[in-house]
Amino acid sequence: MSDRTGIFAGDDPFEIVRSWLSEAETTETNDPNAIALASVDEDGLPNARMVLLKDIEADAFVFYTNYGSTKGRELTASGKAAFVMHWKSLRRQVRVRGLVEREEGPQADAYYRSRSLKSRLGAWASDQSQPLDSRTTLMAEVARVTAKHGTAPARPPFWGGFRIRPVEIEFWADGAFRLHDRFRWTRAGPGADWQIARLNP
Ligand SMILES: Cc1cc2nc3c(=O)[nH]c(=O)nc-3n(C[C@H](O)[C@H](O)[C@H](O)COP(=O)(O)O)c2cc1C
Repeated sequence: MSDRTGIFAGDDPFEIVRSWLSEAETTETNDPNAIALASVDEDGLPNARMVLLKDIEADAFVFYTNYGSTKGRELTASGKAAFVMHWKSLRRQVRVRGLVEREEGPQADAYYRSRSLKSRLGAWASDQSQPLDSRTTLMAEVARVTAKHGTAPARPPFWGGFRIRPVEIEFWADGAFRLHDRFRWTRAGPGADWQIARLNP
């Protein structure tokens, strides 16, 4: 008999993440959808940074960035990613590991169009993760792309989404005396059946 009840209950881990995130939207001060995203460089040295999770699909998680950035290059090279969400207000975390693919079709275009004009132009102006000699240079680049692209810029070809298809999702919730609850969902690959195990804290 499973003791996976309450906030851990359900047959669809994406549904559980959606439910935890929607709870966090009411309790977190800022960016409840922030994830600490990990990639590895060509030597296997890990790298982590925050990004915003923009979609929880039926079978994947999606965020947006510059493909030429450090993360963009590392994710493209390895095809793998991990991320963690931590909500201090709920004392819960979700950990995800999986395979990565780009979302650079109509869905990326639609998300790009949904952003403010300044953000859309900023995506054109920023050669993300490359050295920059001064803020003045960046603002000059913003002025240049604004003159060039006007008020309806197309999505830059170097900017779009990454879709993470998980092979592992772990739900963690704080318990009394550090006896936390952990449930790890694993599957052989996207589309395969999930196996669920309770883990020691
Ligand atoms: C709360 C928060 C949210 C962020 N969201 C994004 C994001 O959605 N996309 C992005 O490219 N960078 C985002 N950033 C900036 C990244 O953390 C990082 O500085 C940038 O993407 C460059 O990372 P890289 O050099 O490893 O590629 C965010 C930073 C913070 C603190």
